[in-house]
Order: sequence, then C-alpha cells, then structure tokens
Amino acid sequence: MSGGDAWSDVAVEWSRSWGPAARPVHDRLIEVTRLRAGSSVLDVGCGTGEFIAALVDRGAHVSGVDPARGMVDHARSIAPTADIRVESWDALPWPTATFDVVMAVNALQFADDTISALTEARRVTRTGGVVAIANWAERALSDLDEIDAALAAEDGEEPTPDGDLRLPGGLEAVLHEAGLEVVEAGTIDVPWTLDGDAALLRAVLLDEESSDAVSSYREVVLRAAQRFLQEDGRYLLNNTFRFVVGRVPEASDAAPSGEEDVRHDE
Ligand SMILES: C[S@@+](CC[C@H](N)C(=O)[O-])C[C@H]1O[C@@H](n2cnc3c(N)ncnc32)[C@H](O)[C@@H]1O
Repeated sequence: MSGGDAWSDVAVEWSRSWGPAARPVHDRLIEVTRLRAGSSVLDVGCGTGEFIAALVDRGAHVSGVDPARGMVDHARSIAPTADIRVESWDALPWPTATFDVVMAVNALQFADDTISALTEARRVTRTGGVVAIANWAERALSDLDEIDAALAAEDGEEPTPDGDLRLPGGLEAVLHEAGLEVVEAGTIDVPWTLDGDAALLRAVLLDEESSDAVSSYREVVLRAAQRFLQEDGRYLLNNTFRFVVGRVPEASDAAPSGEEDVRHDE
C-alpha cells in the first residue's frame, strides 16, 4: 500500500488494530531518544496518531505529518493539541532545525527515496538532536509474516523478500548515508494479542475487508494462525521491530565512515 487514498480507506481499522499494537515500539523510542517534557518532536508517517497521543501525554510539543488525509483526521481527533499536517517525507513543511527529535514508525519504506527522506528529517532536526526510525525486522522474526506467507502461497506467490531496511544493519546504513551519526540500534519485541477470529481477520486482511477476497482468504488466515491460538480464544503473535537512533552532528564532528561508536541492544 502506498497512495494516500489507500491509507485513508483503512484509517478506521488501522486505529482499531495496528496503531495501538505498536505501543512497545513507542515506549522504546521514547526511552532511547531520552525524550523529556518540553521536547519538540515530529512523527513522520504518523498514521492515526497513537504515537502522537503518547508523546503529548509525556509533555512533549508534538507535530506530525502524513500524506493520507483520513489518517490525519483521526490523528487530529485523538491528539487535538498537536500540529498535524498533510504532507510527505519529501517536503517536511517546517523550517530547518525545528525539532529536538524526529521519529518514524513503520513509515520510512514508503518514502520515494530513502536517503532524501532521511536527509529531510535531518534538516528539520537541530544540531545535537536525534532522528529515530523503527521498522519491521526480517520476516523470520515475526509470527505475522507466517500468515502473510500463507496468503502469498494461496495466490501462488512467494512472500515478498526482506528489503534492506528490515535486515540487521540496514537502518544503520541508510542513516549513516544521510549524514547522521548512529548512536544506538537494536530490536524491539512487539507481542500482538488479537481478541479472537474476527479481530484477527480484520487486522490481517485490512484493505481486503470489504472485498470478495476476504471470504477466500479467511480460511487461509485462520489455518495459518492456528498455532498462535491461546486457550482463552485469543491469538498471540510475537513480532519484532528494529530501531536505530542517529544524532545530527556538528558540521565538524561527523565521524569518518565506519568509525562510529554504536550501542547495540538486542
Ligand atoms: C504502516 S502505516 C504506519 C502508521 C504509524 N506510523 C503507525 O505506526 O501506526 C504507514 C503510514 O505512512 C504513511 N505514508 C505513506 N507514504 C508516505 C510518505 N511518502 N511520507 C510520509 N508518510 C507516508 C501512510 O499514509 C501511513 O499512515
């Protein structure tokens, strides 16, 4: 899914299932960026605003940006004090050095050009501030990807191979290329509990929910998810994200390639 309209179409279901599921990612990014009350923060590709609401709760001054108006409308409804704009990675509508922290969760892969997007994130971050990115880890580390693989097989396809951003070292490499000094990286456990078959199907099929495809995919999803079914009728999917934090260096203190002192906490 890439277009703004497509994301707007799934905004309601996203806010019900996926947005809140990223809570462990939100908590970890708040921790590793050492965010404080009063910090100015931007969330890029903010979706339906769950992270923005959590940041507001921590006392931060929060802005958000997303090209999908339907997502932004929902974000504004749950975080009315935040400054949330309809735009994309390519042209963040804020002046240079506006923010202490710029974050993005599960959104960098939608930028037209990864390095340009991160360069733009660096531009709006003050010197000494940080850019923090979190994305899905490689497929082998997430139960959800087993279900995705079963859906691909149903269509006679292979699962989409892991892109570079999912692989160990992938996020570090692109931040470095965009001129950020990588200071920390690691993985985040993201357990996802779904309250029974209906919740599982809604979350997994998302954009297919209203189409005919849902009926043929239902059995595939339920069969693939069988081994994640708990005694209480809920499903538990153990998924994994990777994160990276990069500091905006003074013009003179950017480390030569390969000499950064990176903390890895996996
Ligand atoms: C997978 S969702 C993640 C939403 C939110 N960050 C979360 O974790 O719940 C991806 C989001 O990226 C947005 N997006 C797509 N293309 C984008 C672009 N070029 N620039 C910024 N955001 C984009 C989508 O509209 C969508 O809201």
